[in-house]
Amino acid sequence: LGRRPPVTGAELRSAVPLPPAFEVPLPLPAVLKPVAPGRYEITQRVADVEILPGVRTPMWTYGGTFPGPTIESRRGQAITVTHRNELPVPTVVHLHGGRTPAESDGYPTDLVLPAGWSGGHGHAMPDPRAVQSRVTRTYTFPLDQRPAMLWYHDHRMDFTAPAIWRGLAGLHFVRDDAEEALGLPSGPRELPLMITDRAFAADGSLDYPSLDATLRERPGVRESFLGGVLGDVILVNGAPWPIHEADAARYRLRILNGSNARHYELEAVTDDGRRLPLVQVGADQGLLAAPVTHASLPIGPAERYDVVVDFASVPVGGRVRLLNRLGTGRTAEVMAFRIARPARDDSRVPAVLSQDLPSWDSPARVREFSFRAGPMPGGHGWLIDGRPFDPSRTDVTVGLGDVEVWRLVADVHHPIHLHLAGFRVLSRGGRPPLPHDAGLKDTVSLRPGEAAEIITRFDGYRGRYLFHCHNAEHEDMGMMANLEVR
Ligand code: C2O
Ligand code: CU
Repeated sequence: LGRRPPVTGAELRSAVPLPPAFEVPLPLPAVLKPVAPGRYEITQRVADVEILPGVRTPMWTYGGTFPGPTIESRRGQAITVTHRNELPVPTVVHLHGGRTPAESDGYPTDLVLPAGWSGGHGHAMPDPRAVQSRVTRTYTFPLDQRPAMLWYHDHRMDFTAPAIWRGLAGLHFVRDDAEEALGLPSGPRELPLMITDRAFAADGSLDYPSLDATLRERPGVRESFLGGVLGDVILVNGAPWPIHEADAARYRLRILNGSNARHYELEAVTDDGRRLPLVQVGADQGLLAAPVTHASLPIGPAERYDVVVDFASVPVGGRVRLLNRLGTGRTAEVMAFRIARPARDDSRVPAVLSQDLPSWDSPARVREFSFRAGPMPGGHGWLIDGRPFDPSRTDVTVGLGDVEVWRLVADVHHPIHLHLAGFRVLSRGGRPPLPHDAGLKDTVSLRPGEAAEIITRFDGYRGRYLFHCHNAEHEDMGMMANLEVR
């Protein structure tokens, strides 16, 4: 794997003093309690969150925290999540990686529209004071899918990037008995790690270009961050460069790159310079067939990896740092583990992890899509097959149950995400897929100039879905398309 940096976006520099690395303890997002079996409620609201020690950061939150509360669910047991919007803007929630009926998938214009809001592509933001808050909406998730770590986030038309940047993201686990019987590290030795970069203005608020303007009304501002917005602070679960006290044992790290635009290549390095093997046991859509061992692991926006790291060889008192090979200076550091005590370890990594991975063949169709920058109304934007997103246009129609191969061609780095259907990577650049492409994915990170082929089966539900680049700024600047499952 090369060390070529991703296309650079506007890297914002924080205007507040930043804490030293590896001092703030790693927070673990709280698990949301249901209000009744299978029924959850979340209030979206502005809250002051302490991200940097001693600094108050006003954020848009799910339930007052960043990340939002974690939802723990069981395979095949449907749940509902009622979101009450007390933010000054309309929102819509998408469960990323969920096999979700279209009406609960969080379509970008599918907001509960407050009075006076016309919404949609190219329309102006309403005056926040005119927006009625306290709008609620209930989403239904059947969760008839393989166990995996999913995440939920805002998906509002044209404003997904600032909404996620301001805090609208949380984790959602789907679990089942078969996975739990494998004996992978669990309990306190299974750690969710949501990695995000941010930047802070002098008053402690999150810095973001044109935060309160529309992307489309200020093309000059837009072009300055065509590559996406990057921050100079690396957060894990909402804490800057945190540290976690660990046992000298195996840990299962459930890693999400929740950044808008930053790509990472992670490695785990001991204080004496040894790289610990990263044993990948799962991808976006759940367990692999068999473990794959990596020295370092690239992760693009919205991708997840399920990785076992063994700290048994690290002396008590020693540290293991999780580093980012694509970063420079402080963005090259992510978090650390301090090995605090020797431990007994009954966990294992079985040679066979899952036997229910779909293996499709004989696609009904092969299609090709290009993901490139290009002119659009108001300046440059990001286009799929030469066109910016239009919510009123159906770009692709597929049959329910059809198997298709899609060839995805990129100009620069684009993490491409398909709603509803998990896929497998068949090839990259005309070659076999890379080791980290193993398993079932819902987001594939295309490298500059690369063409990749994916195969999928569109089963689940009929209706209108999306596929798009998950560089959140690219997404807002047009790189989305409508997928109709008939
Ligand atoms: Cu993570 Cu269409 O989104
Ligand atoms: Cu992109």
